[in-house]
Amino acid sequence: GKSSTSRGVARALGLDYLATGAMYRAMAWYMLARGVDISDPAAVAALADRPTLTSTTDPDAPTIAVDGVDVSEPIRGEAVTGAVSPVAAVPEVRARLVEIQRARVAASLAQGRGIVVEGRDIGTVVLPDATAKIFLTADAEARAARRALEDAGRTGAAAPAAGDVAATAASLAERDAIDSGRALAPLRRADGAVQVDGTYLTLDEVIAAIVGIVEQACAAD
Ligand code: DC
Repeated sequence: GKSSTSRGVARALGLDYLATGAMYRAMAWYMLARGVDISDPAAVAALADRPTLTSTTDPDAPTIAVDGVDVSEPIRGEAVTGAVSPVAAVPEVRARLVEIQRARVAASLAQGRGIVVEGRDIGTVVLPDATAKIFLTADAEARAARRALEDAGRTGAAAPAAGDVAATAASLAERDAIDSGRALAPLRRADGAVQVDGTYLTLDEVIAAIVGIVEQACAAD
């Protein structure tokens, strides 16, 4: 639910929106398209500077392109989802993407616009001085049920099968373990971040809670 939440907050506050996960996915898509062995960090690092990544920041229609090709759809597929964690663990990939993320934020601010940036290391690494930092959590099972529903919606199935939810839970848990355990920019709560637990809240309730936190932070800024 973090993308729907972040987009909803951006929409409610009239802000731009940047999904950094899409950038790591786009980088993984690029590596797969080039036939790079994604289990070889040196091979991934060697190409990390090559692709031009372009993100648009309208919360109603965010897109991402690699060398001018819109990859918004393919980056949601199984191949990229299976490849993204090892690619995201490569330091050269992270350095490159953090630089692009900061430049994108600076561009919004230069136009007098604020921006919601979504990702695992935004408060800890990318933007430690952000006006408001949110650490959004939810039970693994609630997240898996939501993700399986999203996946079923994409393939046109009426409802996800129970086995799909279990498989999704396992895949989420595996990626969480890699993302939290990696040496560089692990997934963790940033200093000064407000924790919001979305397990028992509707999407609109989570958005309202975060909008309140942001408004308070802006007032105090
Ligand atoms: O949010 P998502 O599922 O689209 O993210 C895909 C992957 O990208 C995730 O498994 C870890 C990585 N990622 C990251 O390492 N740092 C970020 N700021 C965002 C995503």
